Amino acid sequence: MITADVYFSELCDNLRAWCGVTLSPSKTYLVQNRLRGLMSELDTTELGELLRLSKASGGGYIRDRIVDALTTHETLFFRDRQPFEALTKHIIPEIQTQAKGGRKRLRLWSAACSTGQEPYSIAMSLIESVANLSTWDISIVATDVSPNSVEKARTGIFQDHELRRGISDSQQRRFFKRVGDGWQINDEVKRLVRFEIGNLLSGRQPDGLFDIIFCRNVVIYFSGDDPLRTFEMLSNRLSENGRLFVGCSEVLTGMGHILDRDRIGSATCYKRLPIASTAQTSTAQTSRAQTSRAQTSRAQTSTL
Ligand SMILES: C[S@@+](CC[C@H](N)C(=O)[O-])C[C@H]1O[C@@H](n2cnc3c(N)ncnc32)[C@H](O)[C@@H]1O
Repeated sequence: MITADVYFSELCDNLRAWCGVTLSPSKTYLVQNRLRGLMSELDTTELGELLRLSKASGGGYIRDRIVDALTTHETLFFRDRQPFEALTKHIIPEIQTQAKGGRKRLRLWSAACSTGQEPYSIAMSLIESVANLSTWDISIVATDVSPNSVEKARTGIFQDHELRRGISDSQQRRFFKRVGDGWQINDEVKRLVRFEIGNLLSGRQPDGLFDIIFCRNVVIYFSGDDPLRTFEMLSNRLSENGRLFVGCSEVLTGMGHILDRDRIGSATCYKRLPIASTAQTSTAQTSRAQTSRAQTSRAQTSTL
């Protein structure tokens, strides 16, 4: 007889293969709760039937809905203030000095951006602190695997309780306008951010190299090699001296051949080493990275 446990384990395997998120067996009840809406839409109460329908549909809609339901989208505006301060008080002046009056260019990627609070916070920080912003060439790309989250992020409409988590009264007046019973972020902020659906572990990543990448509070849900694979991929998308900001509880090990731990003001981040020096050391570091890989993954078990 096939038990519900077998289906739960198949669901976990699928989710991990689709987006890296690893569910703990103790979360069976939470998973059932989160899938209830989708299952009732599909007119089933059986996990096995949901999996069968997902397979029969060849992924697509049902798979996306399962990913939406089982990933954690918790986020807030200006989450852990330090990276935003590091950006405006240190990195921007640094670029200004290096540009010596020439063209000032900044490319940012908010990877796993959830419903958009993080990239919009980056955009608001820049608008508030950069003089003559119109003379800068700035782009912020924001990606998330969850189509629902990306859709909400694109609309830029937030509820009162979401604004209360990080937005000051003056920011609310300056950057938001009333729309129905919510608040929509204005075009000045919106036009700086481009949203895309994107999976950190597979498929195409945004084009080009980035000066700053925020990838926070997502690899804590990954396991095995996936955190390190993600950080390796992101490191290779950083321009020379580009900075990677990770979540407060996320620590990178085994990346010393390509990233240097850096302290900017009160923020900790990782700085891309010069490309030539990484080429020389990368072979020697590979075995160390492999050893550390196991340690990293043990430290970053899912908490869903
Ligand atoms: C807890 S939120 C973090 C949001 C934001 N970075 C922050 O720190 O506030 C985690 C987000 O990671 C997304 N996610 C999970 N697996 C992903 C993957 N493989 N690729 C891209 N995004 C993923 C989820 O959909 C969710 O929106």
